[in-house]
Amino acid sequence: MLFQRFNLKKELRKKHRRKNLHEEILQSAAEASRRKKLVPDITFPPGLPTSRIAKSIIKTIQDNQVVIVAGETGSGKSTQLSKMCLEAGQGVFGMIGHTQPRRVAARSIAARVASELGVKLGDEVGFQVRFESKTNSDTLIKIMTDGILLSEIQNDPFLESMTPLLLMRFTREP
Ligand SMILES: Nc1ncnc2c1ncn2[C@@H]1O[C@H](COP(=O)(O)OP(=O)(O)OP(=O)(O)O)[C@@H](O)[C@H]1O
Ligand SMILES: [Mg+2]
Repeated sequence: MLFQRFNLKKELRKKHRRKNLHEEILQSAAEASRRKKLVPDITFPPGLPTSRIAKSIIKTIQDNQVVIVAGETGSGKSTQLSKMCLEAGQGVFGMIGHTQPRRVAARSIAARVASELGVKLGDEVGFQVRFESKTNSDTLIKIMTDGILLSEIQNDPFLESMTPLLLMRFTREP
């Protein structure tokens, strides 16, 4: 898994740790293949502007580290982009982190994405807002408020548990 890569690389240099590391690497690979099997069938609702150019957005995501998508309100940015990251092959080695400015939006976008993917909210698609977290080890897409993302930086400064990150209108609440 991605969040282990720096630590494993560091530990590999220590000869006495190598034997145990082999076990850890196998476990990490097993976890990645378990998560790969959780990826549901992905379809994009016809009629939404982002759906029409889904293929080219997915290709752009695969070819670039940073992608900026601008579109009209209601064009499908919040509901479709995390699914496109999943289709692009992300979400398996680390969760797809997706922010929304407000708690209500984070919850409702998570519910919508889960229902479009035909999965249970809190499993493959989860969310976290203040005082409420619905995620588990199966979570491929995690939708959260900006505030939660900022607080996660304290425990995970490089945000390695979440790659890629979708920042939606990232703002600081007054
Ligand atoms: N929970 C929901 N239930 C039903 N339809 C929804 C839900 N959430 C979004 N939609 C619909 O899905 C479409 C895409 O919405 P989405 O939120 O992805 O747009 P957006 O591009 O993020 O817009 P904005 O710029 O306003 O954030 C819209 O037609 C919207 O009405
Ligand atoms: Mg939106």
